[in-house]
Amino acid sequence: MGKIFVDACMGKDTPYTPVWMMRQAGRYLPEYMAVRAQAGNFLNLCHDPKKACEVTLQPVDIVGVDAAILFSDILVIPDEMGMDLSFVKGEGPKFSDPIKTQEDLDRLIGADEAASKLTYVFDTIKLIKEQLSDDKALIGFTGAPWTLATYMIEGQGTKTYNICKKMMYSNPELLHKILAKVTEVVKLYMEKQIQAGIDVVQIFDSWASAIEPSNYDEFSWKYMVEIADYLKEKYPHIPIIMFPKGVPAFLDKVYGNFDVFGVDWATPMSLAKEKLGDKYVLQGNMEPCRLYSKEQTTACVEDIQKIMGGKRHIFNLGHGILPDVPVENAIHFVKEAQRVSGK
Ligand code: CP3
Repeated sequence: MGKIFVDACMGKDTPYTPVWMMRQAGRYLPEYMAVRAQAGNFLNLCHDPKKACEVTLQPVDIVGVDAAILFSDILVIPDEMGMDLSFVKGEGPKFSDPIKTQEDLDRLIGADEAASKLTYVFDTIKLIKEQLSDDKALIGFTGAPWTLATYMIEGQGTKTYNICKKMMYSNPELLHKILAKVTEVVKLYMEKQIQAGIDVVQIFDSWASAIEPSNYDEFSWKYMVEIADYLKEKYPHIPIIMFPKGVPAFLDKVYGNFDVFGVDWATPMSLAKEKLGDKYVLQGNMEPCRLYSKEQTTACVEDIQKIMGGKRHIFNLGHGILPDVPVENAIHFVKEAQRVSGK
């Protein structure tokens, strides 16, 4: 159950500062590539609890992090709502029939049915819990409704977000209906992840920075807070980590009943501490590309430690690790975080 990790998320004093890495189970690990090759493709891997469990546990054993993160993807949610998801080699995720109208939205199935179709995720969680050592936590996750909606509306990743922003500014009612429907699925989905055994929730709003700060609450944050409120009322002992990427201008307006604020790499840790450090535990925030250099990694870990002083902090990267990072450099990051925090 990872007591030290959970305690640290809840703001209690712990003997050391725990560490994990966003996207720690993935392509930089040759062991991951081997299991993915056996599975045939990425989605098969997500659908296969035994293999998904195996790749979840790999970074715990190889890199030595204090928490495992469930191996899955945020996009299994719209997939099980009835959108046809595929991963095209070299291009990333694709939905064949993006949502353009109210009728498109009405065709998607609702919370109860969609959440119950995700049983392979809950089965994966149960298997992981049988095998994960008791001093490690298991992090479950979801995408924020906004980040999920960007893929559902654009049909794929985007640099400009022009299709969803056209909707934001010319048909906000429809965008809100999409966000509300996804929010209902996410609430149940995360509740079922908790019932299956996860110790911590993380909500990824990877594309938060696409929204202008004055609109961020209306189109994203308030839905994340709604999910956190729903979970906290029923499961107050489960820590919730919010990770909105790229919103330093929103720090003054952050509110809500959650435990940890994930600081992205472009937000100075000192600024996050000044604005939010009294209210929330802070997670982060090394620029993931520092992992290309061990010296740069050490310098950054020491800087972060100097700012946070080992209090109300979880060590992490400020976004996901990239596929071409040498494994030994990832291990170096974890060891350095443990060294400076006295583990
Ligand atoms: O350790 C972990 O974090 C693994 C579990 C995990 C994956 N995706 C596996 C994955 C998690 C937490 C995610 C979340 C996710 N998925 C996010 C939010 C996290 C973030 O970094 O901001 C987003 C935006 C997605 C959507 C997604 N999935 C994209 C855009 C892509 C393609 C990215 C790329 O680099 O090709 C994926 C695929 C994906 N999800 C991979 C993995 C390991 C790569 C698939 C492969 O093996 O080829």
